[in-house]
Amino acid sequence: MSSNLKKICCIGAGYVGGPTMAVIADKCPNLNVTVVDINKERINLWNESDTSNLPIYEPGLADIIKRCRGKNLFFSNKVEENIADSDMIFISVNTPTKKKGLGAGKASDLKWVESCARKVAKHSIGHTIVVEKSTLPVRTAEVIKTILEASKNTNSKKSINPTFAVLSNPEFLAEGTAINDLVNPDRVLIGGDNENAIQTLHEVYKNWVSEDKILHTNLWSSELAKLTANAFLAQRISSINSISAICESTGADVREVARAIGSDSRIGSKFLDSGPGFGGSCFKKDILNLVYLSEYFGLKEVAEFWEGVVQLNNWHQNRISQLVVKKLFGSVSGKKINILGFAFKSNTNDTRESSAIKICKKLLEEGAILYIHDPKVEEKQIENDLKITFNMKRNEDLSPNLHNNEVEGSWKKVNNLSEAFLDSDAVLVLTEWEEYTKINWLDVASQMRFPAWIFDSRSIIDPIKVKEAGLNFWRIGDGT
Ligand code: UDX
Ligand code: UDX
Repeated sequence: MSSNLKKICCIGAGYVGGPTMAVIADKCPNLNVTVVDINKERINLWNESDTSNLPIYEPGLADIIKRCRGKNLFFSNKVEENIADSDMIFISVNTPTKKKGLGAGKASDLKWVESCARKVAKHSIGHTIVVEKSTLPVRTAEVIKTILEASKNTNSKKSINPTFAVLSNPEFLAEGTAINDLVNPDRVLIGGDNENAIQTLHEVYKNWVSEDKILHTNLWSSELAKLTANAFLAQRISSINSISAICESTGADVREVARAIGSDSRIGSKFLDSGPGFGGSCFKKDILNLVYLSEYFGLKEVAEFWEGVVQLNNWHQNRISQLVVKKLFGSVSGKKINILGFAFKSNTNDTRESSAIKICKKLLEEGAILYIHDPKVEEKQIENDLKITFNMKRNEDLSPNLHNNEVEGSWKKVNNLSEAFLDSDAVLVLTEWEEYTKINWLDVASQMRFPAWIFDSRSIIDPIKVKEAGLNFWRIGDGT
């Protein structure tokens, strides 16, 4: 460990900053790691003695928090003080797609990153290594550098003029497996041009990552590699989802096709599960970023190629909601549908860009009565997600056996699956939570209103058991 590095500060206590810093603290007991955030409520949750209330759910995270919090891992609202104290500052704030202005709908909104850079410029003392952890458009490091450099001229009050080095160190963790991904990364990427700074960060990771997996690149390659990795992964999902539609039309089975192509070592077997479409905070945002970048540099064909990945995903999500409506005799109005899973994937409470949002909204627009279950997503979150663009009423008093016009297009969160299916017309599985694989379909069938349908967009339900229970069954990419 470099003797100079004593204290790390991370701005942004979210899905990336929280777990990443927890693992660094756990693996580097000699370092003092503080995660700061402007959101007081979030910090309070990180500091709660009951670790079951952490602001994000991630398997294995609570154990690390119990081990390290208060020893060398701290969560605080004191952003400025911690910046001043630290030798290395990670920027791990959100970078949502711009909603208005130049690049709206595609470019990332960098206002939070910029504001962090300004705070670092204003409050840091001595030499500080600034690390971009957030996924950023290529050449954002340039913006950060410019802001930091400009501060040198204005900080005449400081006894020592601060100096900075900027690195890009993108995070490749996936939610739900974040701790394992951080502890056993395929690679760690450090981009930069300041050898001392690169070496200092290299030494941090060397505490638990073998050196052949720590890759050094220039700043721009590192920034672009992160966008490219997410674009390639998302492209694989759109590819297999497009094939699922062909399977359904031709009598092929997408699971068999995936197994057959995945055995080719050049293609590989991972990330070939057809589902309800990709969600999560990164894939869409990062591809749109790539599209924006390509357009900016006049690469129209490149932009169109990548935009197609997002368009296919949108089409695929719509395809699923339309298919449910068609199977239920062309109308779901006043019909009760159980939605199993609202998170964008299992083992997380994150719903950002979850396919469930789009699919549920479409079904609500068609007048369905949705009973939504998810073991980790809170009711408040579902409410926020469903009312963003569609002002759908939420009926607190929905009794489980209502089929009438008054409650058309309403939803309710269900906590207990055992009573959820009473008088239901259909069940739609949207997230691959393990508990859904254990559902007793004979019990469910005894509660549902016939003819009843089970729709499995995640291929986690045993078709034989569902059919034996007398239920109609559809699953993604199954043309057989
Ligand atoms: C991530 C990544 O860092 C980003 O690269 C990716 O593209 C999207 O998601 P994530 O950790 O998932 O961010 O975001 P989020 O959970 O929203 O956490 C960001 C945190 O930063 C929030 O808690 C927010 O309050 C905080 N923040 C934001 C600050 O502390 N200061 C700011 O100025 C802005
Ligand atoms: C992704 C990247 O995997 C990660 O490296 C990056 O740092 C952040 O973005 P994340 O969004 O957390 O991680 O989850 P991921 O496992 O990649 O899943 C994204 C979406 O694709 C989910 O909705 C998931 O259900 C879907 N998916 C994934 C499929 O539909 N099929 C698959 O085979 C894999």
